[in-house]
Amino acid sequence: MRLQLLQMTDALRTGIPLIDRQHEEFFERANTLLRKCTTPEALNEKDINKILDFIWVYIIEHFTTEEDIMNKYEYSSYGPHKQAHMEFRKQYMAYREQIRASGITPTAMRDLLFFMRDWFFKQIITHDIKLADFLKNKMKTDNGLKSKLKELLSKFFPNG
Ligand SMILES: [Fe+2]
Repeated sequence: MRLQLLQMTDALRTGIPLIDRQHEEFFERANTLLRKCTTPEALNEKDINKILDFIWVYIIEHFTTEEDIMNKYEYSSYGPHKQAHMEFRKQYMAYREQIRASGITPTAMRDLLFFMRDWFFKQIITHDIKLADFLKNKMKTDNGLKSKLKELLSKFFPNG
């Protein structure tokens, strides 16, 4: 499989630690899946399904974090950003259905991984960086937001 590991780069960093850490966490999970898929003997249905479920739960958690913040701070592009999240959910589900039907094959996994990587990179560049700029600007006058983001960061990453 000619798919590289997902890596955090400067171009993908939003500058909001909470968002960046969650993205990194997602990259790690996608990479675990990728490693499993590049070792044919590790293509174990049960394991892979577990990771796919894990990614799903994690994605929802991440989207909800962003959506709650956008909603609470009346972000003007909340609509299109949320719409993009919904689109991802729909497509991820469709891939899962497809995998359920075809069984876990290297091709099916590669398609899913390519989709996730492309979607995420595009999403960060089009939507998340814009949201991060809004938050950075808002934080200049809103100390509550600053502490809210800090609080969420330690809630999601209690070990620092
Ligand atoms: Fe995001």
